[in-house]
Amino acid sequence: MKRLYLGTNTKMTKNCAETVAYIKVMRKLLGEQQEEMTLFVIPSFTALEGAKKALAGSSILLGAQNMCWEDRGAFTGEISPLMLQEMGVELVEIGHSERRHLFGETDEQINKKILCALRHQMKALLCIGETKEQKQLGLTDRLLEYQLAEGLKGVTCESVSNVWIAYEPVWAIGENGMPPETGHVDERHKQIRSILCSLFGRSGKEIPVLYGGSVNSENAAELISLQEVNGLFVGRSAWKAESFYRIINAVYNSSQNR
Ligand code: PGA
Repeated sequence: MKRLYLGTNTKMTKNCAETVAYIKVMRKLLGEQQEEMTLFVIPSFTALEGAKKALAGSSILLGAQNMCWEDRGAFTGEISPLMLQEMGVELVEIGHSERRHLFGETDEQINKKILCALRHQMKALLCIGETKEQKQLGLTDRLLEYQLAEGLKGVTCESVSNVWIAYEPVWAIGENGMPPETGHVDERHKQIRSILCSLFGRSGKEIPVLYGGSVNSENAAELISLQEVNGLFVGRSAWKAESFYRIINAVYNSSQNR
């Protein structure tokens, strides 16, 4: 059975106490964890310390939603990789569409963050995806190729083992997101795999590629069954522990039945 990756970014929706309570319920529901799955939670910065304590003794990875590309210095408002590591963070999400579109993050900045995360032996989850307009104009393939090439510039075949990719079409994300079309997701993931193989040779085959955008307990099984989908990155539908648990179960059962 292929290794499966399943996690959530709680965005700016939970304070520290809420994050801790959420993780505690999750852990209770999960009980003995499924060995084949890599689970992860990415809370707000202020909840990291509490989350780490709540995760003690569990194999659920702790992630951060963003990170500065410098280790220290005059960067007001930024959080460095060293600070995140002090909190026990192992994974950093980089280039989420809200960072790109609401906060103007560029591919160049994203690339610096990726290289910085890898320099510190952190796992880097690079988010890519086209907007509705880019999709309508038929630009998706070129855009994904560009975001991967620019985001991963300077990454070596050795260090790429710490890179994960999340394909998250902007039109599928959030409250106004359209449900993902399975055929589109299937094709894009095959394209992403082929780009990764052309960039990194055999190592490109091993990079986990997750799908994100309006994932829920109804569509999770079908999405995870797609050949090049190695995991799911969930927003809203995972923010209640019970509902995240339903998604985890749907994914687990579907993979067991294959
Ligand atoms: P959503 O968010 O599942 O609420 O659509 C996904 C994301 O932003 O990663």
